[in-house]
Amino acid sequence: YVAELDLSDIGKGTYPFYMLKEIDEQPSVMRRLITKYANEDGSMNVDPEIVKAVQDADRIYIIAAGTSYNAGYASKRTLESLTDTPVELGVASEWGYDMPILSEKPFFIYLSQSGETADSRQVLVKTNERKIPSLTVTNVPGSTLSREATYTMLLHAGPEIAVASTKAYTAQIAALTFLAKAVGEANNKSEAFDFDLVKELSIAAQSIEATLSEKELIEEKVNEVIADSRNAFYIGRAEDYYVAMEASLKLKEVSYIQCEGFAAGELKHGTIALIEEGTPVIALISNNPKVSAHTRGNIMEVVARGASVLTVVEESMAKEDDDIIVTEVHPYLAPIAMVIPTQLIAYYASIARGLDVDKPRNLAKAVTVE
Ligand code: G6P
Repeated sequence: YVAELDLSDIGKGTYPFYMLKEIDEQPSVMRRLITKYANEDGSMNVDPEIVKAVQDADRIYIIAAGTSYNAGYASKRTLESLTDTPVELGVASEWGYDMPILSEKPFFIYLSQSGETADSRQVLVKTNERKIPSLTVTNVPGSTLSREATYTMLLHAGPEIAVASTKAYTAQIAALTFLAKAVGEANNKSEAFDFDLVKELSIAAQSIEATLSEKELIEEKVNEVIADSRNAFYIGRAEDYYVAMEASLKLKEVSYIQCEGFAAGELKHGTIALIEEGTPVIALISNNPKVSAHTRGNIMEVVARGASVLTVVEESMAKEDDDIIVTEVHPYLAPIAMVIPTQLIAYYASIARGLDVDKPRNLAKAVTVE
């Protein structure tokens, strides 16, 4: 491999922090992925051997840590719907010790921005011993996980310098969506052919741009509701829950505000005891009519207990007093569009607290010890 390093990517340019630069790069990363994983006629350009390996599997296991683990969750539904194969997630640091009982024909996907995470590697060593086929999805060509897995798909996100991962998360979801569609088409699944990923990902790139043009509004809301708080909650259902997990990790990493991402319906089963006057609760509502009314109900429950609620809502679900509106995308790509405001929320909370956004205490970009 020749590393895809564009030197203009390395500097911060006029940006105060890499994290903001990398958040801003996401529309172009999405468009780059289209050129890498689709042909000009819109057909998929995914290594047929990888497609075949997934077709042959009876279960997909995604192993990852941190933000990559959350990206795995955010991709689960699309992978399952388009490949008709169940997807199971594994926290890398847990699976290294106790591998659960596997299906008869497992296929392992190692999701890792750096390709160097030791926790993920120890699982890979075990699956290699058992000769289980594997795919590393990574931003770094030639990285350890890439060299040791059977196959590699690259994220093409350009170097990610900020410790807190942003563009790698959205690139991971997009890359796995290309894989899912390619497998679905190989299986002759009409839903896969009908899903115009090139068009839909272009629309998602535009949605990201629309959110990026709302930075001032988001910064204002953060200063009003979140920045001075010791703790916060993200709530959402279905895909929004998966995004809530990533959103809360991001806020913790860069602002040190203690934050939990909750399945909106689960909050009332205990943790709602923590809601008091002024506790920030950020609710995520994408276009999923099956769950949105329920999430609205959960918002009322926390408001009744004094929470300061901030809503992040996809356009078609929006009501007059919602705070941050995300322009509509295909449901498979909702996590990509919905996570952008939450990245900016984390960034501005960190700024408001005068922290070093790019180098949060105690964290490293790649963790090469178990
Ligand atoms: C570290 C980083 C996280 C990252 C995780 C997984 O803990 O601080 O930001 O999400 O590792 O990294 P990977 O390179 O495997 O995606």
